[in-house]
Amino acid sequence: MRHSMELRIATITDAAAIIAFDHVAALEPARVRLIHDQIKSSACYVAVIDANVVAYAVLNYKFYDNGWIEMLYVHPQFRRQGIGSALIRHLINECRTPKLFTSTNQSNVPMQQLLATLEFDRSGFIENLDESDPELVYFKRLRDNAT
Ligand SMILES: CC(C)(COP(=O)(O)OP(=O)(O)OC[C@H]1O[C@@H](n2cnc3c(N)ncnc32)[C@H](O)[C@@H]1OP(=O)(O)O)[C@@H](O)C(=O)NCCC(=O)NCCS
Repeated sequence: MRHSMELRIATITDAAAIIAFDHVAALEPARVRLIHDQIKSSACYVAVIDANVVAYAVLNYKFYDNGWIEMLYVHPQFRRQGIGSALIRHLINECRTPKLFTSTNQSNVPMQQLLATLEFDRSGFIENLDESDPELVYFKRLRDNAT
């Protein structure tokens, strides 16, 4: 039985735990830098269960000044338990702009399913980032006021 889950802003002491379960961090120094940078700018959020960091997500405003979920990663052993969805719902509440965007590869069906479940809409796609795997852009309107 799962104990209660905490969702909070990441601190620099969470970086090691994140890097340990994000398999890309072991392969790409740029991912490690991203994690550190986003933690330092208070854009990184973590899900914590029993004092263990089990997932992280990054919300910043780099996408044409709109809310932008740059990253979502759930520890492989904790997937399919609603943690990714809970983190995204938390970012929806935290987002400071009326529109929230994210993107995922065409090959990433789990992420597409998750976004569909949370009623994100498709908003075009970008080719030529990953070879032969277009980046599908998703969008969710959070508020009507256009600020
Ligand atoms: C994509 C990812 C974040 C999903 O996290 P998660 O915590 O397992 O997702 P949830 O448990 O909240 O799933 C919510 C819904 O998404 C869909 N979903 C999630 N994983 C799925 C899978 N492997 N296959 C099909 N649908 C899936 C389902 O509809 C699921 O609801 P259900 O379990 O009631 O059927 C996780 O698989 C992950 O970290 N993957 C590696 C990193 C990644 O690809 N990140 C996104 C790239 S931008």
